[in-house]
Amino acid sequence: MFIEKYLDIDQENAQQMINATEKMIIEKHGDNGFQNTKVYLFDDYAVLKMQNITFRNVINQDIDLKHLERLAVTLLELQSLGVSSVPISAFQSINGNGFIIQPRAKGAELYDKDKISDKNYVMERVKLLSYAPQEHFDKFVADIIKIISAGIIVDFMGKDNFFYDENIGFQFIDLNAHYDYEYGNGEKFTDDDIKQMVVFGSFLPCYFDTAPQYRDTVTKVFSELNENERSLLKEYNTVIFNKCKIALFNNEISEKTINEIILSERFFLQNQQFELVCLDKTS
Ligand SMILES: Nc1ncnc2c1ncn2[C@@H]1O[C@H](COP(=O)(O)OP(=O)(O)OP(=O)(O)O)[C@@H](O)[C@H]1O
Ligand SMILES: [Mg+2]
Repeated sequence: MFIEKYLDIDQENAQQMINATEKMIIEKHGDNGFQNTKVYLFDDYAVLKMQNITFRNVINQDIDLKHLERLAVTLLELQSLGVSSVPISAFQSINGNGFIIQPRAKGAELYDKDKISDKNYVMERVKLLSYAPQEHFDKFVADIIKIISAGIIVDFMGKDNFFYDENIGFQFIDLNAHYDYEYGNGEKFTDDDIKQMVVFGSFLPCYFDTAPQYRDTVTKVFSELNENERSLLKEYNTVIFNKCKIALFNNEISEKTINEIILSERFFLQNQQFELVCLDKTS
């Protein structure tokens, strides 16, 4: 079955880019073998070539891609409200193999998975992010709340699902599924659930790992730092941590909720890796 949809790009332009990918190098790969995403970058657009496009969040079937279309409409609405979520401009699928076209995010990944084993790259990113103005962090948190509240999954596992540009601030990519309850599985989130997810995700600009597949890399980077770099990393990370925390306050999340997360088991690993952030100084 062939399904195509063009939301805010015309068919001809979309088709030209899709055709051009045949002769292009693959710039980025997704981590998830199920969809096996291959990414081609144009000046203004990213074309994602994917398998199993007729599944949302791996387990939910979307044979006619009506859920993907609904998602694309919601993303455009969020964009019109000023949320920095990268929308879906068009998609095509032939029996589940196909393409998603998105505007290209500005700036660079928070931490690019192809570079994160390089300590110099990590130090550079942490420094840059520590200089980001408080308003960028405030909007990052405000946008996370709006995207999750719209029922769209923010995938906090990969720090490369978030871009940072010094002029624009933080942007969100990899928004290609709703939370399972939107497909009729499980309960809708309560406000409290959302707050907990937001607090957990909002510290992502700090340097620590988020998922088991990155654990060895983070350990390796830490072990390669000399004393001076270690103390600098701690300093930059602490600045970022505090800006994230202020952003949560500025978005009306209570100190009680914040402390519940950062002192909890769920945040244990991050705290350990941080040794870094002296929680007693910041709470
Ligand atoms: N719109 C975009 N603008 C710029 N770069 C992009 C865009 N979409 C994807 N990329 C690049 O391609 C990478 C993989 O894309 P994406 O995260 O959407 O795929 P994925 O299959 O969900 O990957 P994973 O499972 O690793 O999260 C991103 O981390 C980013 O580096
Ligand atoms: Mg991703």
